[in-house]
Amino acid sequence: MYEQVSHSLLNEILDELRPEIRNLKLRHFYIRLGANFYAIHSLFKMLYGERGDFREQMVSLVETLAARYIERSPHLRKSDLAREKDHNWFLHQKWVGMALYCDRFADDLTGLRSKLPYLQDLGINMLHVMPMLDCPPENNDGGYAVRDYYQLDQRFGSIEDLEALTASLRKRDMLLALDVVVNHTSNEHEWAKRARSGEKKFQDYYYLFDSRELPDIYEETMPEIFPFTSPGNFTWNEEMGKWVMTVFNHYQWDLNYHNPAVLIEMIDIILYWANRGADILRLDAVAFLWKKIGSTCQNEREAHLLLQLMKDCCQVTAPGVLFIAEAIVAPSEIAKYFGEDAINAKECEIAYNATFMSLLWDAVATKNARLLNLGVKNLPVKLDRATWLNYVRCHDDIGLGFDDNDARLSGYDPALHRRFLVDYFTGKFPTSPARGLPFGENPKTGDARISGSLASLVGLEIALEQQDDAAVQVAIQTVLLLHSMILAFGGIPLLYYGDAIGTLNSTAYLLDDAKRNDNRWMHRSHFDWEKAEQRKHPGTVEYRIFHALKKLIALRKETTAFADQDNRQLLTLGNPNLLAFTRTDPQNSRNRVLVIGNFNTQTQLLELSDLQAHHLFLQEEMLDLCSGNQLKASNGSVLIPALSWYWLKD
Ligand code: GLC
Ligand code: GLC
Repeated sequence: MYEQVSHSLLNEILDELRPEIRNLKLRHFYIRLGANFYAIHSLFKMLYGERGDFREQMVSLVETLAARYIERSPHLRKSDLAREKDHNWFLHQKWVGMALYCDRFADDLTGLRSKLPYLQDLGINMLHVMPMLDCPPENNDGGYAVRDYYQLDQRFGSIEDLEALTASLRKRDMLLALDVVVNHTSNEHEWAKRARSGEKKFQDYYYLFDSRELPDIYEETMPEIFPFTSPGNFTWNEEMGKWVMTVFNHYQWDLNYHNPAVLIEMIDIILYWANRGADILRLDAVAFLWKKIGSTCQNEREAHLLLQLMKDCCQVTAPGVLFIAEAIVAPSEIAKYFGEDAINAKECEIAYNATFMSLLWDAVATKNARLLNLGVKNLPVKLDRATWLNYVRCHDDIGLGFDDNDARLSGYDPALHRRFLVDYFTGKFPTSPARGLPFGENPKTGDARISGSLASLVGLEIALEQQDDAAVQVAIQTVLLLHSMILAFGGIPLLYYGDAIGTLNSTAYLLDDAKRNDNRWMHRSHFDWEKAEQRKHPGTVEYRIFHALKKLIALRKETTAFADQDNRQLLTLGNPNLLAFTRTDPQNSRNRVLVIGNFNTQTQLLELSDLQAHHLFLQEEMLDLCSGNQLKASNGSVLIPALSWYWLKD
């Protein structure tokens, strides 16, 4: 039987390991390796079984796992064991995240450590610190073009500073998420340099071509990611006389995972950062990992096999560490990054809920929840032990990644509707108060995405300029409504730094030659600590947003029904301006919360009959957790004020 083949291979490999690895006490390592080896071997064989050096590569992989296990510190090993026991720990409602740039938020790692009280005050206990690895000063795509995966960029500080940060986070029961840029390196990475100087070994780390023949065939089916700044998917390199595959920017060279050495290097890097104390690793651009002629080179089956392998290997060495999949792809594709099943084909425990994010923005622009309801209804079922990262804004653009069919069912022409959304958020649409910019416009396809800060996109910038208090209130309500949805939806809410104090667009990037062509920098500004001080003064915009969010976060943490146990039920309502769902604590079904959001700028009627069919509002009133007041029905309906939400309990 095949399993026996894998067992005997494992025994042989263990005999062959370098003596210093063989002789150490590795009880937990061997148990986990034994448990995962069948999967690791099968996957590795599926991907690389045809190669003459298959066995050698397999040994090298196991040695990598063992060496990083030996290096793993006692307190991390202890935490691995604890998390294995309490393996659903991250589904708890207590986790609330924030994504931030270390330098833009707090100058450096030491600064960031000193700002932890600010984050804790808001209720944040999971930090996604944007990439901090060594990268070229200019061509770095905000840190996503790594020059050295084992070095922090000097700007942020030393590895000791990072250790001090992780120690401080641990004491505060806060989690750290770090990026691993798995899809590409900087063109200044040593592998790229050695490839350029002609070393075959490193040329095999990338996709290189002598002529346009193959690149032209690839281009027939590959979309462009940055059509404006980096058109096409290949860049000519004069030094080698070859075309290099560069899907993102011309200075980001795509790694070739057809070569097992690349995968083993990346697994070593993943485990290296796991050993530096990261609780969660965000794997960047995972949809792109496998390139195949004749395909879009996204979401390929092999990309999933690679992720399964990375997960299985991490399970052996650092089982307490979680993966986030950054796969901003079609709704039907995203959930596949959790894996096919939780035991045999597991990938990432967490995935960006880009569908929900873009649908929330659709609701803001259309002022109704038609498409949002359909999208939520059609969200694919996810695995147990998998959860969404729910967000309103992040460091990237907003892609309009809803399902075309859902758009048609909502009565829209998908292409025209996307055009409307871009016009709306860039302020071209009459009556729109939004101040975004189009990002990644592609004249060939008509596609575009949107850049801009949350506050500016919901109209706060214009409202403040015009000193229009009512419009300021509308903008603040919208900010809070959107957050009330991500906090209650099911999954880990991920706030974006600056949003809790209403940070507007910044134009500073226009003065920087390395950034001026990438308008995503308009929503990546330096955090303004003076503005943040305003949160202490009642009546200010900062106070109104910060304190309302802080309260919602605290309420979320107390509400057991908000833990993600696949316990959300969408309610079908007659009124298309509203989104309503229940969250039920599976341990105690009486513990149920009804979440309602009104995306319209007018008060809306919600028919009681829609709710009573679900045994809600039977007493004609429910307690609103957010205000502490009873929401009462009258004449067979409930009134939901403009841009408001409720978290209601029986
Ligand atoms: C991811 C990052 C984005 C970056 C891209 C290429 O999508 O979030 O900022 O530009 O990968 O690395
Ligand atoms: C990401 C996404 C794309 C996004 C880009 C960065 O990986 O695929 O939608 O816009 O990279 O902005």
